[in-house]
Amino acid sequence: MTGKVALVTGCSTGVGLHTAIRLAEAGYSVVATMRDVAKQQALLNEATRVGVTVEVKVLDVCSQASIEAAVADVMALHGRIDLLVNNAGAGFLGSVEQTSDADLRRTMETNFFGVWNLTKAVLPHMRAAGSGRIISVTSVGGLLGQPFNEAYCAAKFAVEGMMEGLAPLAQQFGVQVCLVEPGPINTEFVASVRSSSQAALATMAEPYATLAQRYMAASGNVFATHGQTGDDIARIIAALAAVDSPDFRTITSDFAMATVASKVVDRTGNSVIEAFANRLKG
Ligand SMILES: NC(=O)c1ccc[n+]([C@@H]2O[C@H](COP(=O)([O-])OP(=O)(O)OC[C@H]3O[C@@H](n4cnc5c(N)ncnc54)[C@H](OP(=O)(O)O)[C@@H]3O)[C@@H](O)[C@H]2O)c1
Repeated sequence: MTGKVALVTGCSTGVGLHTAIRLAEAGYSVVATMRDVAKQQALLNEATRVGVTVEVKVLDVCSQASIEAAVADVMALHGRIDLLVNNAGAGFLGSVEQTSDADLRRTMETNFFGVWNLTKAVLPHMRAAGSGRIISVTSVGGLLGQPFNEAYCAAKFAVEGMMEGLAPLAQQFGVQVCLVEPGPINTEFVASVRSSSQAALATMAEPYATLAQRYMAASGNVFATHGQTGDDIARIIAALAAVDSPDFRTITSDFAMATVASKVVDRTGNSVIEAFANRLKG
């Protein structure tokens, strides 16, 4: 055991589940959170299979009461949070005209306000300790807007802006802030997007229906050809947790890098952080 405590969100499936396992293997005491603890069996089975233990706790990132209760519980039990992994997220398929106010708010609540509020709840403890690391899973969709993903991209862009603003400040009190930006990952994500977007997709009329078909055809099946696994991303997160000086930005595959290349010149994102950190130096 490292004696260090990691809090991970969205551990029922995919990236979160594997991240909880990889961090436990690395010696962290892992508080693996999920909004519905009835879904914990897959995580517990994997933990048993690889011979680690994780502590499951309820945390719905859309509920401030849930965030406060989870952080208070962890602090009462462990007295510290060394690593926060903001992983929970959910997509939505539909362009602006098909996105209801409820769809937009749910997408922003899950992907952005949840990250904001949980980070705000954990940060004072890290600042008091003079150390800590906050790793947030965004997406290539946090760097590049994509048609029919406007709400999701807006939310991920918001996280990017928040974290890029916070990183140079947090650095001043020993807290490192990192972004992980995957392209396609083969998890439950697509199924969950399809289910939450059913109504928008079913009512998509012209000219959007034809445009959507063309867009899907031109995009190809990137999940089959370039998709990473949840565990690929978990290994990247565990590696970021382990190094002394983690890069601010990790674009997780060459495919993801090629997708955002026209927008990102410095693959590490370090130059932006450094430039603003320099302005904070006395
Ligand atoms: N899969 C991709 O292609 C892809 C690409 C780029 C970035 N990402 C990002 O990667 C991260 C992990 O996604 P994934 O691929 O592992 O998808 P996933 O298998 O669908 O996992 C998403 C996790 O987030 C949880 N979640 C959703 N709403 C929540 C809430 N209100 N409170 C707490 N947890 C909540 C889900 O819980 P439930 O089981 O209860 O729904 C699930 O555990 C997300 O931030 C996603 O945006 C995914």
